[in-house]
Parts: sequence; structure tokens; C-alpha cells
Amino acid sequence: MSLREKIDFSNLPVHVAIIMDGNGRWAKKKLLPRNLGHTNGVKTAKNIVELARSINIKVLTLYAFSTENWKRPEEEISGLMWLLKKYLKSELATMQKNNISFRVIGDISKFPEDIIAEIKNVCEKTKNNDAMIFNFALNYGSRQEILRAVKNIIDKKIDTPSEQDISDNLYTAGQPDPDLLIRTSGEMRISNFLLWQIAYSEIYITDVLWPDFSDEEFYKAIIAYQQRERRFGGI
Ligand code: IPE
Ligand code: IPE
Ligand code: MG
Repeated sequence: MSLREKIDFSNLPVHVAIIMDGNGRWAKKKLLPRNLGHTNGVKTAKNIVELARSINIKVLTLYAFSTENWKRPEEEISGLMWLLKKYLKSELATMQKNNISFRVIGDISKFPEDIIAEIKNVCEKTKNNDAMIFNFALNYGSRQEILRAVKNIIDKKIDTPSEQDISDNLYTAGQPDPDLLIRTSGEMRISNFLLWQIAYSEIYITDVLWPDFSDEEFYKAIIAYQQRERRFGGI
């Protein structure tokens, strides 16, 4: 029996969020420069977006660049920006073909102008697609996101905010919270990702490095999720 056949398609996670980690270590293991790790990481991302869509995941969120990643050497950051631009240009057609709505979560206001234009173009052209939402987390930090929500709530003069008000003012407003959070490369931490939204997500951590995260690895995560008993505080 293949792994795919072990999946219960009536009990899929609606929203899958992934911390795509381990590109640098993947490259190091192969004695390659870190940026080649990122190039191969992009290949994995393309594949996982199409795979998630093909098995009918409704929301996929990928963590691509954190508010803390600016600490990296300038050369690595500019390499990532270059990859991002190439990715946006090459994937628009695939997203259209697969009826995927592309969104960005995070503050892209300080990104290079050509990249902002490319992001806006892809968001605009795919905005009416409705088979899957694909959130790309760029210059994303959960604390920044929550602070922004609080400021929005103050601006809107909401005196006694509810939990729903906070949710409604996050980048992910209107979307279901992640059911499954995956982190590759074995790190047991959240790294400022979706702190509010993952309150009851099932967490799956694999030692596999992101460039090696194959279809089979994605199936394994979903099968593990389906074996969990979600209690949400009940008994
Ligand atoms: C994840 O891979 C990609 C980004 C954070 C941009 P890393 O670059 O963090 O890879 P490691 O953790 O150094 O192996
Ligand atoms: C988390 O990975 C951010 C992304 C995957 C974009 P990091 O590699 O930046 O996280 P830390 O530094 O190991 O916590
Ligand atoms: Mg890392």
C-alpha cells in the first residue's frame, strides 16, 4: 500500500502551514553555497504547492522569510530576493491553471519596488481563484502581526475587543486557523510564526531538510495528523 493510499481524504487538514527550514544545512552537507540550498528549496516549494492543491488542501501557508531573517548576510538576502522575483514570474501561470489564490502575509513595504510590483501583480491576477489559498509569509513575524492588529483595533475605536476582533485584524483574517503545522529540519521551535493562529494546531516536526521534503514526506505528515486525537481542551 502506498503512502498516498493510506490517507483518509474525508479527514484532511483544511489549513496546512509549513516552516520551510534547512536549506542552508542541505547545501552545507553537499559542500555547496547556501544559496544553492535556497534554489533547491524553491523547487520543493513549487512541488508542495501543486501537491497540496491536487489533494484538495484548502489553505497552504509557507514561511519563506521572517522579520528576523534580515540578520543574515546581505549577499544571502539579495540572493533570496532574486529567487523570489524569479519564482513569482514563473509561478503565475501555474497558479492560474490550478485555480490558486496567492496572498502575502507580512510587511512587504520595505521590499525592493520591482518585487512589490510583481507581488501585487500575482495577488491581483489570482484574487478570484478559489480552489486553494496560498499564503506566502514574507518579512513575516507573528509579534509584528499581532501588534499591527492591536493598532488596527485602536484605530477602529473598538473599546472592548474580542478574540474574534484580533483574528479579524491579522493578515490571515477570514481564514481558518492551521490544523497542521509542519517544520522541517528538526528544530523544535516556532520562530515567531503564526503564534495566535496555531493555538490548537497539530505540530509535526521532521528531520528531513526542506529541499528533500518530497511528496512522500508530505503524505507522512498528513497521515501522522490523521492519527492524532484533537481534543481542543475537552476530554
Ligand atoms: C530556511 O532555510 C529558509 C529561510 C529561512 C529563508 P535556512 O536558510 O534557515 O536553512 P538552515 O536552517 O540554515 O539550514
Ligand atoms: C524560520 O527559519 C523562518 C523561515 C523558515 C522563513 P529560521 O532558520 O530563520 O529560524 P531559526 O533562526 O532557526 O529559529
Ligand atoms: Mg533555518
